[in-house]
Amino acid sequence: MKIYCGKDYEHAGRITANILSAQIIMKPDCVLGLATGSTPISAYENLIRHYESGDLDFSLVHSINLDEYRGLDPENDQSYRYFMNTHLFDHINIDKKNTFVPDGMEKDAEKACQDYDEIIRSHGGIDLQLLGLGHNGHIGFNEPSDSFAKGTHLVTLTESTVTANARFFASASDVPKEAYTMGIRSIMQAKIILVMACGESKKEIIKKAFYGPITPQVPASVLQLHPNVILVGDEAALG
Ligand code: GLP
Repeated sequence: MKIYCGKDYEHAGRITANILSAQIIMKPDCVLGLATGSTPISAYENLIRHYESGDLDFSLVHSINLDEYRGLDPENDQSYRYFMNTHLFDHINIDKKNTFVPDGMEKDAEKACQDYDEIIRSHGGIDLQLLGLGHNGHIGFNEPSDSFAKGTHLVTLTESTVTANARFFASASDVPKEAYTMGIRSIMQAKIILVMACGESKKEIIKKAFYGPITPQVPASVLQLHPNVILVGDEAALG
């Protein structure tokens, strides 16, 4: 595992954006696995800057996002599709037809999951997967569990995740309790995994995930088995 420690959140965002940019420059038609949450926002801001300065071209890039709340439509400002549009896609020259987020409005869970796995498969997998880290070690919405779920699946969010994500909603009761998420297999099959985790509150889980036992109770711990992981953090998280 390669570790880059930025001095603060902004610096970590620049490092993350530089790694994503290198991937796009090396392979202009790459498939990026993208993430939501507050952590990648500074990386996305820097990608937009690189695009605006003429240093990056997204016209051939495809993106496949990790997850989506079940029951939220793309226009809902709490949906992950809305997040991706407003934080990145609306500001760069990516073709939105080439951007994928699970369909939160698909009621048939089996169909939603199969369709998404087919999207991943038909793209030949993911070149670089960006990940944030939940406080309980979740990646995407793969919550602590008795086994590592392989493909895209429907999850019931844990109380800790609902509580953590309540800050984006009017109240905790507004947070959807279910989500569709890419599975561990698709994440692990990405050629490169880029984890971004910042702030004091991520310190403990970073230790557990990367230096503790590999267990589905800490889903991110499976990343220890991946041959090409890059961890970007700040001093508060990496100490
Ligand atoms: C959500 C997302 C995850 C993200 C996590 C951490 O639960 N599904 O993909 O990594 O939040 O969020 P934050 O970056 O805001 O700490």
